[in-house]
Parts: sequence; C-alpha cells; structure tokens
Amino acid sequence: MALSTLKITNFRCIEAAALSLSEDENYFFGDNGAGKTSILEAAYFLGRGRSFRTHRPGRLVRDGMAGFSVVGHVSWSGHDVVLGVEGSRGGVQARIGGAPAESLSGLAERLAVQVIDPEVHRLVEEGPGRRRRFLDWGVFHVKPGFLGAWRRYQRALKQRNAALRQGLAAERVTAWDPELIVAAQQITGLREDYVAALTQGAALAAADLLGATVSLEYERGWAGDGNLTDALADSLARDRRHGRTHAGPHRADLKIRFEDKPARDRVSRGQQKLLAAALVLAQLDLLRDATGHRGVLLLDDPAAELDAESLKRLMNRVAGMGVQRLITGLDERGLAPTASAARFTVSAGRVSKLV
Ligand SMILES: Nc1ncnc2c1ncn2[C@@H]1O[C@H](COP(=O)(O)OP(=O)(O)OP(=O)(O)O)[C@@H](O)[C@H]1O
Ligand SMILES: [Mg+2]
Repeated sequence: MALSTLKITNFRCIEAAALSLSEDENYFFGDNGAGKTSILEAAYFLGRGRSFRTHRPGRLVRDGMAGFSVVGHVSWSGHDVVLGVEGSRGGVQARIGGAPAESLSGLAERLAVQVIDPEVHRLVEEGPGRRRRFLDWGVFHVKPGFLGAWRRYQRALKQRNAALRQGLAAERVTAWDPELIVAAQQITGLREDYVAALTQGAALAAADLLGATVSLEYERGWAGDGNLTDALADSLARDRRHGRTHAGPHRADLKIRFEDKPARDRVSRGQQKLLAAALVLAQLDLLRDATGHRGVLLLDDPAAELDAESLKRLMNRVAGMGVQRLITGLDERGLAPTASAARFTVSAGRVSKLV
C-alpha cells in the first residue's frame, strides 16, 4: 500500500495543500514552524484516526476554522481507494470510498502508517500504555481475529469496572469474568505469537542500528504464572476497594531488554531513539512478511538526537525496506535523497513540489 495523493485542508497551519506523492521516497524541507510535521501528522491521521502529537482533534483545526479534512488515495491490494477524515472539536468522522465509515479501524486496515519522530524514544522510556498501543497496532494488522477479541474484552472490562465502581455484590462483578477471560485468552495468545515474531526482527534491526543485543518479552498483565481466572479471584477484594480490575491484558507490557538488562535503565536518549526506531522498523518488516503490504513510514526530523553515523545507518536501513517514506528535515544535510525522490518545500503552511 502507498499514499499516492494527500489533500489537506485547515489542518494546523495548513490552509490547503494537494500533494502528489512518490510511492517511494518523499522529502519535505523547510524552516522551523513551516508546517513539515503537520503534513506527516495529517498523513498519520488518515491511517489512524488520531494524531501522534495530541489526543484532541480540536487542536488540529486551523485557528478560526470549524473543522479540518484530510483526503488521500491509497493503492491497496491492487486497487485504489479514497480515504478521508474530517475532524472538529466535536469529534472525528472517517470516510472510505466516499461513504461514512462505522469505525476508525477501517482506515487503519487500508493504510498502515508508522511514525519515527523526535518523541519516539517515549516508547522505551514511558509506561506500558504506549507500548501496548504499539503492540496492538501490529497485532491488529497481522492477526485478523484480534480486533473482535479486543472489542469483546473492552466491553466486558467496562461492565465489570462499572459494577466495581457502583459497589455491587461480588457475584454481579464476577458475572463478567467468563466473557472477560475468553477474550483475554484470545488477546494473550495473539499478542504472544506476535511478540515472538517481532523479537527476531527487532533483534536484527537493533544489531544493525545500535550494534547491540535486544530482545522482547510479553508480560500478560497479571502476576505469577497462573491463569487469569485465579488472578481475578485473588485480586477481587482489591478490585472492589479501588473500583477497577487489576488483572488482565489491559495491564500488559512489552518488556524490552538491551544487552540483557531492562532497556529503560540502560540506554542514552539517542540510543532510546534508535531502539524505538528498530521496533518500529521491525513492525513494518513483519507487516510486509505477514500480509504483503509495504506500509507507510513517516520520518519526522530523523536527524534530531542522532550522530552522523547513526543517522546514516537508520536512513540506509529504511531505504532498503521498500516502504513508502515521508521524511522531513530543515535541509538535506545527512539525509541524502536519491535523484528519484519527490521533494517538497514547506514555508508558512504552504507546500510546493520541486521539479
Ligand atoms: N491549530 C492551529 N492553527 C494554526 N496554526 C497552528 C495550529 N497548530 C499549530 N500551528 C502552527 O503550525 C506551525 C507549524 O508547525 P509544525 O510543527 O508543522 O512545524 P515544523 O515545520 O515541523 O517545524 P519544526 O522544524 O520546528 O519541527 C507552528 O508555527 C504552529 O504554531
Ligand atoms: Mg517539526
């Protein structure tokens, strides 16, 4: 899959831009505040229904406007499909092939987009929530049953937590456990399979980018080696005290080990970025191997935090992956675009293609 066009309206500082993209390599150059990251953010929104910079779609609406829209043509499984998103302070609406889509997952299914930006190190550094979302994007794309299991789990968890919050009798709480446990088993199995496959690719990418040994391990989200049935029984009193469920895949984590030690305690900021980048690239490799889809990679200011040698290794690896790339930078330094790359200049929210 690749984005062949991208039309952006009233998104951040961009009033209107209509881009025709290369299926391979695209560069966006411009000064600070020109709107480069905003272009990548718009492309990301089209594949995710959310931003990588804010949870509030209202923030993305250009000052003084009521809403934004992003529309793009995606070549997908041999045919062309038009994806669209419209956003405002009131929410987000997706369109697929011109018709309103029921959920945002339809966008993700058709446009697999990943980002490596100056904040990517947070994947390594921060709490498990970010790593769960990272993991679930990958599982969603390569394991068809995942979305259904995840939705069933969320529904049961919400009901169970509501019963806990309302202080209902224990049997009103545990009534949700059978449904919760079945969905949790599915999620756990799919995530474990996925992590087993991802760890190989991540180890290769990390060896290449960092010259270090990296491994991944899935933590299921409850203590001990026992099953979730027992873990839920053990934590019931605590759950009722706190008004929420403490055991289950909603508490899972992806443990990252660097030279056989927990990565978070071991690596510098630049290394965190390379390590997180290795995980992202491993996901895209796995996506291609499992589904044949190439994916779209957004590289926002890849030069930030990286020394010249590390940047070169990252750019070389990315170029060899066959994914479509949208890359930003202040200028060409360290990026070395090929002769066939599409180049755009961005200035005060205006985008023009260099020919
Ligand atoms: N909702 C909005 N409406 C109008 N302008 C906005 C909005 N949100 C952000 N901006 C402005 O958009 C501009 C471009 O931001 P962006 O982050 O895309 O720049 P950039 O080219 O990536 O810069 P840098 O090189 O510093 O990363 C900023 O000056 C910002 O103030
Ligand atoms: Mg930027």
